[in-house]
Amino acid sequence: MIDDKKTLFSGMQATGNLTLGNYLGALKNWVTLNEEYNCFFCVVDEHSITVRQDPATLRKRARDLLTLYIAAGLDPEKNCIYYQSHVSGHAELAWILNCYTYMGELSRMTQFKDKSAKHADNINAGLFTYPVLMAADILLYQADVVPVGIDQMQHLELTRDIAQRFNGIYGDVFTIPEAYIGKVGAKIMSLQDPDKKMSKSDENVNASIYLMDDPDTIMRKCKRAVTDSEGVILYRDEQPGIKNLINIYSACTGKTPDEVVAEFDGRGYGDFKVAVGEAVVSVLKPLQDEHARLSKDKAYIDSVIKNNADKAQYFATKTLRKVQRKIGFPDRVR
Ligand code: TRP
Repeated sequence: MIDDKKTLFSGMQATGNLTLGNYLGALKNWVTLNEEYNCFFCVVDEHSITVRQDPATLRKRARDLLTLYIAAGLDPEKNCIYYQSHVSGHAELAWILNCYTYMGELSRMTQFKDKSAKHADNINAGLFTYPVLMAADILLYQADVVPVGIDQMQHLELTRDIAQRFNGIYGDVFTIPEAYIGKVGAKIMSLQDPDKKMSKSDENVNASIYLMDDPDTIMRKCKRAVTDSEGVILYRDEQPGIKNLINIYSACTGKTPDEVVAEFDGRGYGDFKVAVGEAVVSVLKPLQDEHARLSKDKAYIDSVIKNNADKAQYFATKTLRKVQRKIGFPDRVR
């Protein structure tokens, strides 16, 4: 890794089926950053077990996600693409940071409140301290920037608070990370309820386009997308369904919303939905093909997993040893 570049950290959970929203809103933007920064793109499997997982499914999904990072265009030679669970420093630093985080701070996290309402039968301590593990992920690599969605901003703020508190006591140990908010808000909404974000866990299968949906399914979901009775294709809040389809089309084709509106001036919703479906297929089909090709190359993916875990381990250990020394843990005897 080259030293004059800044460091970027981000991660995704391997739970649920990733949607077009995850791709357009996160992964695709990561690809534009992967030359400019020294990047760590982590599959955060340790975060996943705050909710019960089936072991075989978790293992498969984690590998699929790691492969998808590469299929999407993240270069595993230049960036570190790895599993959180392969680098023990995440859990070790999380423990330490737990002792510098207040119950009151964690109680205010809206994601904790939402998730504990949703999984009332399993409100475990990990769900509560989830943001501390996320802080450890970021601080372990001295990340300067963290691309996150709005829903993770509160966790990033907490990360900054923890880091500042720690630095206040022990001197400059951690880099204070900044959020990186993507340029255009490619926030993709549900196709069935355009006021809601497109989600991996939506019960209505027509609400989300999954990254692995085949072309017919994609086309069918686009055709069924909820619109309105206005009958004009305009980019405005009064037409949230059409606005969302314009955003999808625009993100898939690189055209601006204004250009899309001009292109479909005077045309019907039916035509437009077909065009949106085709645009989505033109983006997802190559991604799926590349994913399938890479998945077959077991030796290559294994080598990426091994090399990148070693690389991540090196940087993680550097920070961890510094932290341990600062707080007074005994030196190792060689
Ligand atoms: N909590 C994030 C999410 O659910 C995933 C995540 C874990 C993450 N660690 C991170 C994101 C560090 C950015 C940086 O989306």
